[in-house]
Amino acid sequence: MATDSYTLLSALGTLLLGLVVTVILVCGYTYLVTLTRFQINARKHPNSSAKTQLAHSPPLVPYFIPGLGSTITFSNQNIGAYWKWLQCQAARYRQDAFAIILAGVHTNFIFSEAGISAVFKSRQLSREKLDQQLGMNVLGMSKEDSVKAFPYDVAEKEKSSVARIYSEHLLSSSAVNALTSKFMETFRAELESDASLSEGVEVDLYDFLWKKVFVSSTTAQCGSTLLEMFPDFSTDYQVWEDSLLGLLFGTPRLFARSAYAARDASVKKLEAWLEAGYSKPLKDGEDPEWEPNFGAKVMRKRHDYYHQQELSIHGQAGFDLIALGGIISNATPASGWLLLHILSPTSPSDFRSRIMDELESSRKNDGSLDIPSLIRLPLLNSAFHELLRLYVDLLVVRQVDSSVALGGHYVKQGEQVMAPTWMTHRNPAFFENPEVFDPERFLTRDAETGKIGFSIAGLGGKYFPFGGGHYMCPGRMFAKQEVLGTVAVLLLNFDIDFVGYTGQGSGKHGFPGIKKGYAGNQVVRIEGDMRVRIKKRISGM
Ligand code: HEM
Repeated sequence: MATDSYTLLSALGTLLLGLVVTVILVCGYTYLVTLTRFQINARKHPNSSAKTQLAHSPPLVPYFIPGLGSTITFSNQNIGAYWKWLQCQAARYRQDAFAIILAGVHTNFIFSEAGISAVFKSRQLSREKLDQQLGMNVLGMSKEDSVKAFPYDVAEKEKSSVARIYSEHLLSSSAVNALTSKFMETFRAELESDASLSEGVEVDLYDFLWKKVFVSSTTAQCGSTLLEMFPDFSTDYQVWEDSLLGLLFGTPRLFARSAYAARDASVKKLEAWLEAGYSKPLKDGEDPEWEPNFGAKVMRKRHDYYHQQELSIHGQAGFDLIALGGIISNATPASGWLLLHILSPTSPSDFRSRIMDELESSRKNDGSLDIPSLIRLPLLNSAFHELLRLYVDLLVVRQVDSSVALGGHYVKQGEQVMAPTWMTHRNPAFFENPEVFDPERFLTRDAETGKIGFSIAGLGGKYFPFGGGHYMCPGRMFAKQEVLGTVAVLLLNFDIDFVGYTGQGSGKHGFPGIKKGYAGNQVVRIEGDMRVRIKKRISGM
């Protein structure tokens, strides 16, 4: 009996050892083969985007584990760490594109100027299948709903109808002005109704800002009824927003219970809000820019699209959740980063006073803001684009529908393309001292008149915080007015004094740092905060 057990154990031991040796051999073999291929390809074809070269496949970064490829290294949650490593490899091997295996998919990172411009122009690339994955994982849609919401194999007309809605009702100047005016009205009312601000109060600036901007953005886009029905909507929303990329990458429910719970709770509330709104339809012929139940016109036009596509109420609510994400998740941290830099004692000493001079010039006689003049202020604009350069970690992701050369980089059908902003926004060949926040970076001086202006002209393929091409952010015009308007209202109407930094900020001298997260967060979240004393000026708003 004892001999039998011994034989069994020893057989199991041998089997296990065999298994371990096989795994080591397979991984070692995989690494050697992929390393050799990489070295040959990288050395043979430096800088594929150079005009003299024929198109070549970007060299595939070597890896150990077949199938998994570089997934684990890529998932590093120290934002920027992976890109810094890739930048080193790019300099070492003189490459402007690499490929990795990411969760089993051959993924081409393209960061040459010509390659990125080609990504935005190409008709061989699309996003619908990725959007369908977003629909199911991030928005909790059924497969059926996500295919209807993000149709792929349909006539061109139908495929572009959401884009048409955005161009008419989100990008047009009438839509941008209507959204801005409702946003500013609500933001001012939020500040007016906060009694503590008349006395003066100490707050954590970004935390304070996030709450006020959340109410104002949600009301401007979705109407006032949503927050009247669910005053605590922001609690689940914030958890969902923080976990968005984890959900997108398919983190199992077991490891992200709170994220799934927050998603499902938010969708449920939006379902109830939709049902309530549908039960009070507008009168025939009525089509206002904004109304309390569904807010801005763009939302009602989206709802028409949901009905055309026959989405279930659950699918509709999911689609509305991502619309909220669109308006809140980028512009709010963008306003936060800009304010933090303006108010930081470590910024250049005259930065704040020069911004204040500009802002005063955009104030009308009655004290209100002249938005057209505000959005033309040179230093404010330059600082706005500088914050987007430094704090946008965008991955433009596209699927390759048919094989194509993108500015010298050859990508095959079935692969994936990603254009990472970090690689170009922080490329010293494109931007001097790229790690430094330089609010004057985009200022220009007219050679004849000496007049100061600002410009981002000629930066296509180097600077693309709003993406590009067919899928370029349709909220970009409103985003700028919202961010500049937020900063202006606060700085012009309140005395704000720096008290100190709080939390776990990892920036220089305690300045808030970048919150951990997966690559591709768009405007990166803020870790740490700035304690300020804020008091309403006597002159009022
Ligand atoms: C600083 C603020 C913002 C930044 C940096 C930003 C950036 C982006 C980016 C990079 C994309 C994807 C583009 C692509 O795949 O090529 C996008 C999509 C989108 N954004 Fe923005 N965004 C901002 C603010 C806003 C605002 C305020 C709104 C709404 C009012 C908005 C609405 C949208 C929508 C609806 C989409 C999806 C478009 C589609 O599916 O085709 N964004 N945004």
